[in-house]
Order: sequence, then C-alpha cells, then structure tokens
Amino acid sequence: MSSNHGTAPFSRGRQRERDRAHDGFEARRQLRPMKTTAPARSIIVERHYEFGRNWQRFSKVIDEKRISVAMRSLTEMLEVDDLSGARFLDVGAGSGLFSLAACRLGAEVCSFDCDSESVACAREVKRRYLPDTSRWVIGQGSVLERDYLAALGTFDFVYAWGVLHHTGALWDALENILVPLRADGKLYIALYNDQGRVSDYWRWVKRLYSHNASMRAPITCAHLPFLAATRLLPRMLNGRLKSDRGMSLWHDLADWLGGYPFEVAKPQDIIRFYEEHGCSLLRFRRGGDPSGNNEYVFRVHP
Ligand SMILES: C[S@@+](CC[C@H](N)C(=O)[O-])C[C@H]1O[C@@H](n2cnc3c(N)ncnc32)[C@H](O)[C@@H]1O
Repeated sequence: MSSNHGTAPFSRGRQRERDRAHDGFEARRQLRPMKTTAPARSIIVERHYEFGRNWQRFSKVIDEKRISVAMRSLTEMLEVDDLSGARFLDVGAGSGLFSLAACRLGAEVCSFDCDSESVACAREVKRRYLPDTSRWVIGQGSVLERDYLAALGTFDFVYAWGVLHHTGALWDALENILVPLRADGKLYIALYNDQGRVSDYWRWVKRLYSHNASMRAPITCAHLPFLAATRLLPRMLNGRLKSDRGMSLWHDLADWLGGYPFEVAKPQDIIRFYEEHGCSLLRFRRGGDPSGNNEYVFRVHP
C-alpha cells in the first residue's frame, strides 16, 4: 500500500461493541422509524426513498467487471495501490459494491446503512463474493447517530459516496463522519452540487417521486429526454456507457429521481467547513454533469 495506514485488527471486544451498536440502533429504529437523533438536537427526517429496493435490483448485475471498476475508483481517488491492513468504513454502503471492492483491496471493512434492504443487499453481495472473510462486517445504523459511529472504532478511511445529502441533515452528517476517522486518516465523500434554482426544482421532483408511487411513471417519462441528454449522451460520446464507478446507468437514474431527502452543497462551503474542522483537501473532482456528485478527499490533520 502506498500510503501510511494503521493496522489495528478487528478485535473480539470491538466486534461485540459494534454488534451492540448495530442491535441497539435496530431496536430504536423499530420504535421510531422516521426519527433520528444527533447528540445536541433531535431531527425528524422526512420519509426516505427506499434505496434498498433499487440496490437489490442493481446487485443482480454486479459482476467481476463492475467490481474491478469499483476497486479502481477507490485506488485512483485515494491515491493508493491497495488498502492492505487499513480499516475502511463504508457509510451508507447501499449495494455493498464499494465495501466488497475495499475488502478485495485488502482492507478490514465495516459497512452500514440505515435501510434494512440495503443492509440485506450488502450481506447477499458478501455471501456471493466473499462468504468466508471475517474482514468485512455489515450492520444497520445511521450516520446521524454519533454514539453508533463512536462504537464502531476508528478507521484509516471513511467513505461516504452519495450518502450524506440524503440524510435530511447534511451538515450534522458531515460533522459526524469525523467521529470514526483516525488522525491522519482520509475522508472520501461525494455530494450533490448546488445549482440554486435548478436544485430547488429537483428537490420538488424528488419529493413528489418518493412520496407518490403513482407519480413515478409520469415523472420518469417526463424527465427521460433531459436525463438522456445530460447522462446517457455524454457517456455514449465518451464510449463509456457504464459509469466510472461500476454502477449501472439505469439504476443510477432511478436513484437520482427517487433520492430524497435531497440537499446540495457548493464546493467552497464544503472545503471551508472541513478546513475549520482541521482537515485539508487532498483531491477534488467535479461531477460529470452540473447536477451530479462532486467528489472530495480530505486528510485529517494529526
Ligand atoms: C445514493 S445511495 C449511495 C450508496 C453507496 N454509497 C454507493 O456509492 O453506491 C445512498 C445510500 O445512503 C443510505 N442512507 C441514507 N441516509 C442514511 C443515514 N442517515 N445513515 C446511513 N445511511 C443512509 C441510503 O439508504 C442509501 O443506501
């Protein structure tokens, strides 16, 4: 591995602590499924889009090619050859594809998601591709729960790609993901770009889509020409119908229309926020289209 990572193994005690954290969140979730608490305040999160269902459909098209593209997306952006011995936290792991990629790169991986169907999907992906490894643990939890994050231990890499803007409390989530990151560790996040009124429009569309099942077909039809022009066409012109991260275009589109809650951020605000929290920007990549995800890699100062 080309960067300097800690090599703390997953200990039994830590594992029990994590399991308790996962179980504890599960119990609290059943009592109040739409409410998530952060330490200083209580946040009522609006009804979420069921990401997990989309991930379960996507998991059927995961193959070796997508896994290697996902692995490359991690090594490129994190500027490492592999992740041997590193501890990697996948926040909002969705299908589990990037946890699988990190595990294949040699990391000890912990992944979690708040959506039980996403969690089931990641477990199925693990069962299919890495059934015998003890280097990948999967749990259900929320990035808005600081206690949950603290109980997971510390990590060399925290990865939250396309997640924090769907929590309903973006700025709390941005702060919380620093809790499990060790000093000198790297944070890799991707967040929707702020396009002002255009973003307001998409928030309205996504809300309608995720709250009214009967509106999904008309909303999809109405936006297909736009989505084809902004997503499909550029990829066709580049000769890359599959995305750079091993995702599928069709599942990305469903995720885009449904992804709610939906928040956006300007790169300069994110960079300033993390600089004020003792981090420095290592890499930044603008999203392929203006409404897409900007990617950031930060390092926490020791
Ligand atoms: C767009 S998907 C991204 C999945 C994955 N990171 C990837 O890059 O493919 C967003 C994921 O974040 C999860 N999510 C939303 N709010 C969350 C929260 N508060 N805590 C943990 N996961 C959350 C969703 O369930 C969903 O699986």
